[in-house]
Amino acid sequence: MSSEILVIGASGKTGKRVVQRLEARGLGVRHGTRRSQIPFDWEKPETWQASLAGMRTAYVAYSPDLAVPSAHAVIAAFVEKAEQAGLRRVVLLSERNEARAQACEKLVIESSLEWTILRPSWFMQNFNEGGFLDGVMSGEVSAPDSGAPEPWVDLDDVADVAVAALLDDNHIGKIYEITGPELLTWSEAVDCIAEVSGREVSYRTVTPQEFEGTLIAEGFPKDGASFVATLVAEILDGKNASTSDGLQRALGREPRSFARFAADAYATGSWK
Ligand SMILES: NC(=O)c1ccc[n+]([C@@H]2O[C@H](COP(=O)([O-])OP(=O)(O)OC[C@H]3O[C@@H](n4cnc5c(N)ncnc54)[C@H](OP(=O)(O)O)[C@@H]3O)[C@@H](O)[C@H]2O)c1
Repeated sequence: MSSEILVIGASGKTGKRVVQRLEARGLGVRHGTRRSQIPFDWEKPETWQASLAGMRTAYVAYSPDLAVPSAHAVIAAFVEKAEQAGLRRVVLLSERNEARAQACEKLVIESSLEWTILRPSWFMQNFNEGGFLDGVMSGEVSAPDSGAPEPWVDLDDVADVAVAALLDDNHIGKIYEITGPELLTWSEAVDCIAEVSGREVSYRTVTPQEFEGTLIAEGFPKDGASFVATLVAEILDGKNASTSDGLQRALGREPRSFARFAADAYATGSWK
């Protein structure tokens, strides 16, 4: 067994933070992405064996999303392959209040692996590293929200919990709902970014159909845009309008605020 840790989604928003933290502790990391030295592709199960070989511990960020209907069969096959390969521990990135994601979690929970499940709320970093960056830069962010506030989470907090769960036995068998410390509507979040960055940017609620059109205009594949627009509207229907204490339970500290995220993001080059 290698002392390396497999990070699936290593170049993504959460994975790269997990990698940075592990490497800062002098730990070896095997990157699991389609472009890694040992390529890992969720759509090509024949690539999994080489990535898993010799690994005891893995961080798993599924792409595109555990709520995609095909994810269940893929995660089932992956868990089986991981058990056969001798993996001992998995930290699964999931999401809050999503039945299809929870069906995928169940596969991990009922496996022979030691597991920790992370259920973060909407990422603050969607605004500077993800799908809403284009909106900020163009002056208008839009989403099919219900008007309900969201407990936006900072990915530095999510990565801190992920690393603790990868390295510390105390997190085995725990499900952590990780949110920020406060509820902010989309308008309030975008206003905060406008204020911090000095940009003229506003927020507009749109229908799922309009959102689908925006996704396609931004280059999102047509066949997946309708599903994503519906999924985003479902996620934003108000069911997540509460904070949770996953970070506090896991690490004994308070989560980072949206204002702090925005200030740090701007100071390190975002939205310029
Ligand atoms: N955005 C949110 O607010 C939010 C909230 C809660 C949960 N989540 C969950 O977060 C997860 C995404 O994590 P993330 O945001 O850290 O990732 P991300 O920024 O979307 O990056 C995707 C990562 O996965 C890799 N990847 C893409 N397609 C792949 C494939 N077919 N096979 C193997 N690797 C692939 C990418 O690298 P390559 O392209 O090089 O392969 C990259 O490393 C999703 O499961 C989503 O449900 C998101």
